Amino acid sequence: MTDLSLGRHVNEAETNPDINPNAVIGAEILIEQLYKYYGDVKVLEDLDLHIQAGEFIAIVGRSGCGKSTLLRLIADLEQQSYGEIKFKSARHLREGITSDDIRVMFQDPRLLPWRSVEHNVQLGLPKTEHANASSMLEKVGLKEKAALWPTQLSGGQRQRTALARALSHKPRILLLDEPLGALDALTRLDMQNLIEKLWREQGFTAILVTHDVSEAVQLADRIILLDKGHISAQFQVNLPRPRQKNLAFTELEQQVLNAVLAT
Ligand SMILES: Nc1ncnc2c1ncn2[C@@H]1O[C@H](COP(=O)(O)OP(=O)(O)O)[C@@H](O)[C@H]1O
Ligand SMILES: [Mg+2]
Repeated sequence: MTDLSLGRHVNEAETNPDINPNAVIGAEILIEQLYKYYGDVKVLEDLDLHIQAGEFIAIVGRSGCGKSTLLRLIADLEQQSYGEIKFKSARHLREGITSDDIRVMFQDPRLLPWRSVEHNVQLGLPKTEHANASSMLEKVGLKEKAALWPTQLSGGQRQRTALARALSHKPRILLLDEPLGALDALTRLDMQNLIEKLWREQGFTAILVTHDVSEAVQLADRIILLDKGHISAQFQVNLPRPRQKNLAFTELEQQVLNAVLAT
């Protein structure tokens, strides 16, 4: 495995002064000897990955290399063929991690068209949590749109609704499978900033699958390159946040892009 570390990784959840001490702190994820087959097709092979609590990971790699499969296994939406995925709570917080603590956001926002924006965000939550869900809608800048139907929103607003819905469950882990892939460039930048802001505030562990290397450098603490079912390279991103597209940024971006192209 190539480790092109640019320096020591610092766990954001432990050092970030912006994190609200009452916020849910992310879970640590330990993946050991993970294999996934679909019939004879080997998709993931002997994959080991240790993700720190509150870390922001980006996963890049060519189409079909197993990124979504890995995310589905972490989300418990599918079973691995062999190997283990373990979760650990950080410090004094709740011990057991259940699938309720993990939320996934996809490219398609998957909103219910017959429910208002606000009801979509409150979906599946007990009544006592509805006010919290509504305040999440405010955090993503959609308070004024609460009573509208999803069809009355733009693509970016729908994705913000999906983000508010995911975060209203106070997840310990947020999995993002190319959530910004269908958005225009400017909306994408806004969404990246919003995801980074809420991640910093809430401290959940984030895993973002993206085909956009620039997005990976913009958001991640660490970038993982998947190839032929395992991790072929890792890049530590120790650029200060919020990140500027300066020389160090574009150099790292080029380095990651070259590695992806070489797979
Ligand atoms: N349910 C499934 N049944 C059979 N093959 C699958 C299934 N899901 C994914 N695959 C195969 O696994 C490989 C990895 O898919 P995926 O994880 O979706 O890739 P990525 O997200 O990196 O583009 C592909 O070759 C795909 O065809
Ligand atoms: Mg995919």
